[in-house]
Amino acid sequence: MPIQTLYQEAIRFAATKHLVQDQKIPGTNLPYVVHLSNVAMEILLAGEHSEKFDLGFAVQVALLHDTLEDTDTTPEELLERFGDGVTEAVSALSKNAKLPKTEQMVDSLARIRKLRPEVWAVKMADRITNLQPPPSHWNQEKINSYHEEAILIHAALRQGNDYLAYRLEGKILEYAKMYDIPMRKEDRTLLLEVGGEGGSIQLVKIKDYFLFSTDETTLREFVPELKEEELTSKSDVFTSFDQAMVSLLDKYPVFELYPVAVHPDFRKQVISYYRAFVSNPWHKGKRSSEEWEEVLFGKG
Ligand code: NI
Repeated sequence: MPIQTLYQEAIRFAATKHLVQDQKIPGTNLPYVVHLSNVAMEILLAGEHSEKFDLGFAVQVALLHDTLEDTDTTPEELLERFGDGVTEAVSALSKNAKLPKTEQMVDSLARIRKLRPEVWAVKMADRITNLQPPPSHWNQEKINSYHEEAILIHAALRQGNDYLAYRLEGKILEYAKMYDIPMRKEDRTLLLEVGGEGGSIQLVKIKDYFLFSTDETTLREFVPELKEEELTSKSDVFTSFDQAMVSLLDKYPVFELYPVAVHPDFRKQVISYYRAFVSNPWHKGKRSSEEWEEVLFGKG
């Protein structure tokens, strides 16, 4: 079906649904459909700048992305009208109201990351569109936390679409400038880095969240047996250091790689994982022990 037809059908469905409660864009008098078409506009431009981008799919997801969260639309209804791919995407883009508020975004991001990059793109497009002058009743704290959340979205999804990641980064900086939000250095703290010489794995803390990212270009030199999908696999977002560390060790042979940096506040924790690793007889002769001993215990 032509993209124009997919667009027409999705926007008519979504606009009708959001109209039921006469929903407006928060802080404005504009009908909600303006938000939806803005997200779709970002997606159309991203499609022009991206390779292997399923524009028809992405446009539908963009227009329908808030129907489950904000209207009486049911997954069954979406399934019947738009198919299972779109339904799955819109579900991932919807917060699970049964979870505590602080966990809802991380949970949604984790579900988005299991799906195609077009879904990642829609979430970034949504936040780009929403980084607008905030509703007048928002206080500075609310503005700051919305900004922090945008940083988290960018960190978790940027690998999904270069064009939108770049747009979102620009919006985040612009928003900080406009609303006097200090871009603190501790927004992103490097906790652990292994690899080095241009290819590395980094475990970072962003606000209260932990995630690891890899520089995949030269990682293969360090771990030649890594498969393509492992090189391109991305970390989930975690709420504790231990969760992130366990997942990182599950994916990469961290202690067989060259240590580059360990954050002093997390050294104790890294040491306990290192001890568990070296005491496992399976790992004998597999580790870069001297370098690790030096970094963790200052021996050399
Ligand atoms: Ni939205």
